[in-house]
Amino acid sequence: MSDFVIELTNCKQNKKCFTFRECRSDALLEGVLVVAATSSAEVSPEAVSTAYTWAAFAQEIEAELEAHRNRIFTEACEQAFAPPEAEIKPWGWERLVEWLCFQTYYEYQAILFISKWLQNTPEKDALVLLCHQIEDESNPFRWLERHLQAMGVAWEKWDPLPEIRAWVEAFYGSLPDTISRLAAHNLAGESGACRSFESILPHLPPDLQKTMRKILPDEQFHLNLGRQILSRYCVSNEQKARARDYALQVAELESKAIAAFNRKLAALSPA
Ligand SMILES: [Fe+2]
Ligand SMILES: [Fe+2]
Repeated sequence: MSDFVIELTNCKQNKKCFTFRECRSDALLEGVLVVAATSSAEVSPEAVSTAYTWAAFAQEIEAELEAHRNRIFTEACEQAFAPPEAEIKPWGWERLVEWLCFQTYYEYQAILFISKWLQNTPEKDALVLLCHQIEDESNPFRWLERHLQAMGVAWEKWDPLPEIRAWVEAFYGSLPDTISRLAAHNLAGESGACRSFESILPHLPPDLQKTMRKILPDEQFHLNLGRQILSRYCVSNEQKARARDYALQVAELESKAIAAFNRKLAALSPA
């Protein structure tokens, strides 16, 4: 049953800090599924760090998201932050600043909307995990802000496009409960972030690459946090369908935001 490969490596703390390599999307697209990991046990940070299975319905949602992103990427290659090129070129100053401002803004907004969610998160394990996540989002916020400060840029003056605000502030900021939040942000949003970070990385200067490599394991932890919490709390078909619906709404909002952002980047500079 397990053609599914995940390697957990590089655990440097009890809490998390793992990297994993997986063949999730290809395996799922070929119809290979892993045993469901639904559990009634509380989900601890340690469990999120070491868990390598999760519920089949969540895997199916991820496969749909991946297929959606692959389709968008194929149909409109320019709508990726960093479309594939024969030769990897370092981004120019303007593009770098624009992306750094977006990413810093995103980390800052994540602190705000997740802390807002805490006010009505009755599931205690989810509450504690989201507290860890806020701390995690605050680190990249500071690190990326410092990169911008070193470049003489204040990200607070950056004005997000309406499509970006609709996705990050309006949608994530108004999700009603733990299932919708974890499906939308942690399952859909974080998997998109991990995918985009990997494509962007080669275009960044070495010091920023180093920072991004520090951030990536935390974002993967947040993705796994979503998988584990959804596996525990999505029990009925109605809950699983709601999770899918919220995750796929992110795919749409994210596509529109990325397309708009790339039109802005294209107008700025060629690289
Ligand atoms: Fe983040
Ligand atoms: Fe995150």
